[in-house]
Amino acid sequence: MKKFPVLLILLCACVLSQAQKIGGSCENYELIYEGMPKELNWQTSIAYASEPGERMEISGIIYQKDGKKPAAGVILYVYHTDVKGEYTPAATQVHGRRHGHLRGWVKTDTQGRYQFNSIRPAAYPIRKFAAHIHPIIKEPNKNEYWIDEYQFEGDSLLTQKDRDSAQNRGGSGIITLTKNEKGIWIGKRDIILGKNVPSYQ
Ligand SMILES: [Fe+2]
Repeated sequence: MKKFPVLLILLCACVLSQAQKIGGSCENYELIYEGMPKELNWQTSIAYASEPGERMEISGIIYQKDGKKPAAGVILYVYHTDVKGEYTPAATQVHGRRHGHLRGWVKTDTQGRYQFNSIRPAAYPIRKFAAHIHPIIKEPNKNEYWIDEYQFEGDSLLTQKDRDSAQNRGGSGIITLTKNEKGIWIGKRDIILGKNVPSYQ
């Protein structure tokens, strides 16, 4: 078979699968699984104590589509930039190097809870985009899909245009961080599965 028809078939397959896929994207999600521990907890620490940056703790409840019942056993994968705004892999890092070394997984408990500790990410060095954390959801028996990034109120790079164009997948990702008595930035975000996510059933 010639190259052109093969490419055409691949393109059609991609478009068809995109139509049925939750989240509607052919983007490559394989990095979520690279290095994923076999056993996941509802809490995790993403940054070592030696990681430069201000400490941050984010928690919340993941709800089912009705927005009321907690969703148990849902994997939330997150990754974000370091204090320089870069996705720098660790020298010894084998998996998921493109996402940098500040990445981790949680799996909601029976109450739908999740929590991760890390350092507060910085904006990219070009300073054109607000600081953010990328979240990807993996529910049992569903394909993985992204939801709105975590972004932070008070970030001077977070524009009205950003707010207006947000899809609010899973609900709004813009959270308020407040420093507790230990100097740790604390943030809360509840997530509703499938909310504003294309092709979600
Ligand atoms: Fe990013």
